[in-house]
Amino acid sequence: MADFSLRRAVEMDFPAIRQLIHESRLNPTGLNWRRFIIAETGEGVFAGCGQIKPHAGGVLELASIAIAANYRKKGVARLLIDRLLSEEPVRPIYLTCRSELREFYVKFGFFTLELQEVPPYYRRLSRLVNLFTSLSKSRMLVMGLGVPGKVT
Ligand SMILES: CC(C)(COP(=O)(O)OP(=O)(O)OC[C@H]1O[C@@H](n2cnc3c(N)ncnc32)[C@H](O)[C@@H]1OP(=O)(O)O)[C@@H](O)C(=O)NCCC(=O)NCCS
Repeated sequence: MADFSLRRAVEMDFPAIRQLIHESRLNPTGLNWRRFIIAETGEGVFAGCGQIKPHAGGVLELASIAIAANYRKKGVARLLIDRLLSEEPVRPIYLTCRSELREFYVKFGFFTLELQEVPPYYRRLSRLVNLFTSLSKSRMLVMGLGVPGKVT
C-alpha cells in the first residue's frame, strides 16, 4: 500500500482542489485554498483534500472532503479528517453529507442532527436540498461533532 502524507495547501494546489471537488460533485463554493489540507502520495501525487470552512456567526464546517478515485479505501480520508479535527480545537463542528455517508462520519464521532438542532444556515440549506431530492432515496443530512447535548 502506498504511503500518504499531509501538508497545508499552497496556491498552486488550487486547480487540483477545484477539479477534484467538481469531479466529486461537491459544493464548488468557498474553496479558499489557504484553509485546505492536501493528502499526497509518497511520489507527491495529489490524492485528496479537505478543509474546515467558517460560516457567519462562528459556525464551523468540515467540508470539501474528497479523495481521488484511485486512492479511495486506503485510509486517506481518515488521515485527512483526523488532522483537520485535531488542528481545530473549537466545537461544535458541523457537516452536510448524503445519507449513504452517515456511517462514514459516525466513525469520527459525528451525530446526525434534527433540523431544530442545527444553525439556521443548515436548516435553510437542508430544506432546500431535500425539497429538490424528495423523490430520490438519498437525503442530505446535517451532522455535528461536539454539539451540546449530543456529546457522549
Ligand atoms: C467518502 C470518501 C471521502 C472516503 O474516502 P476514503 O479515503 O476512501 O476513506 P477511508 O479509506 O479513509 O475510510 C475510512 C473508514 O470509512 C469507511 N468508508 C470509506 N468510504 C465509505 C463509505 N462510502 N461509506 C461508509 N464507510 C466508508 C472505510 O471502510 C474506513 O473504515 P475503517 O476505518 O473502519 O476501516 C471518498 O469515497 C470520496 O472522496 N468520495 C467522493 C466525495 C465525497 O462524497 N465526499 C464526502 C462529502 S460529504
